[in-house]
Amino acid sequence: MEYDNNPSDQSWKLIILIPGVKFMQQICCALIAVAQEAIRGNSTSTFDLVRCKLTLFYDYWQMNEILEALLPRDMVIPSAFETVGHIAHLNLRDEHLPYKKLIAKVVLDKNKPKIQTVVNKIDAIHNDYRTMQLEVLAGNHSLVTMVVENGLRFQVDLAAVYWNSRLASERQRLLNDFAHHDVLCDVFAGVGPIALSAAKIVKHVYANDLNPCAVQYMEKNSVLNKLERHIEIFNMDGRRFIDAMFASQKAHSITQVVMNLPNDAVEYLDAFRGVFKDKPKDKEYALPMIHVYGFSKARDPEFDFHERIRIALQEVAVNVEMRRVRHVAPGKWMLCASFRLPKSVAYAHAMLRM
Ligand SMILES: C[S@@+](CC[C@H](N)C(=O)[O-])C[C@H]1O[C@@H](n2cnc3c(N)ncnc32)[C@H](O)[C@@H]1O
Repeated sequence: MEYDNNPSDQSWKLIILIPGVKFMQQICCALIAVAQEAIRGNSTSTFDLVRCKLTLFYDYWQMNEILEALLPRDMVIPSAFETVGHIAHLNLRDEHLPYKKLIAKVVLDKNKPKIQTVVNKIDAIHNDYRTMQLEVLAGNHSLVTMVVENGLRFQVDLAAVYWNSRLASERQRLLNDFAHHDVLCDVFAGVGPIALSAAKIVKHVYANDLNPCAVQYMEKNSVLNKLERHIEIFNMDGRRFIDAMFASQKAHSITQVVMNLPNDAVEYLDAFRGVFKDKPKDKEYALPMIHVYGFSKARDPEFDFHERIRIALQEVAVNVEMRRVRHVAPGKWMLCASFRLPKSVAYAHAMLRM
């Protein structure tokens, strides 16, 4: 209801919008009575009630209102989506699939110009490179986009590389642990959200990924953010990368290792067995901090993850700082364990490697 009653203006305007009103006649009568009461005593006032039809078009309604009107009653409205650059990423349920194009069109229309493409995840992530199978439902078909995180720009191709904006705060938390004197090894670096953000803070970064496409984007992103002098990028298997780093002259300078491949990273911890075994015994090497991510469905996720770390290292890591990062599915947690590489592991005989 809009009510315009400027006291200096003798003409009053009362606009009443009552969607779905059925008994217009009764409302009109009631309004006339109320209005006449209000102007009683003022003989110069005139009163007129005009009925008009106002049509509210598509542009007027909000995304949720349109979806509610279009989709079957009792259907959960799929209004939440993740944004990666210009791409809206829906996670549609099976019941939504017959309406997927319609839903995507409304999402696109109502979020332009920021959103230019609407996609839906087709399948759970199964492949080694952790890429998503996406179906473009509306808008332009380019899945190459630009994301800003931590003041840095990252170009990503969602069809070919891993990216998860939901982990931004976790990456930030990790970065808060790094200092100017640190040298970082990022074993599963993707397009570089941790490695490149760290390159702004620490002395030097060695970053690696198995996916050649992720490595290409990481190189591009290092140039884009003018950080190429602070980072060396590798394209190899994580275990070989750990071997190569610690067999080289770089070994003594590495202070932090990040292993962000939650499905499998813990299985790569055995690569640290014996990394210092050939180093001169008289020289003290700083042992790096390791930050390893993992999933657990156990009743006690911390205990379960700690056990898996012990099995992989064949030693008990002490003073492990264990954190729950995210609840990824019912009963499933993503965890991060941070601990200093045990000396007994670093100087162990490599024969015991699994
Ligand atoms: C979960 S993603 C994390 C990427 C990055 N840290 C981030 O936060 O976006 C894991 C990455 O590990 C890479 N990867 C998978 N298996 C690997 C392996 N055996 N060695 C090295 N990298 C691997 C994938 O290509 C993917 O980019």
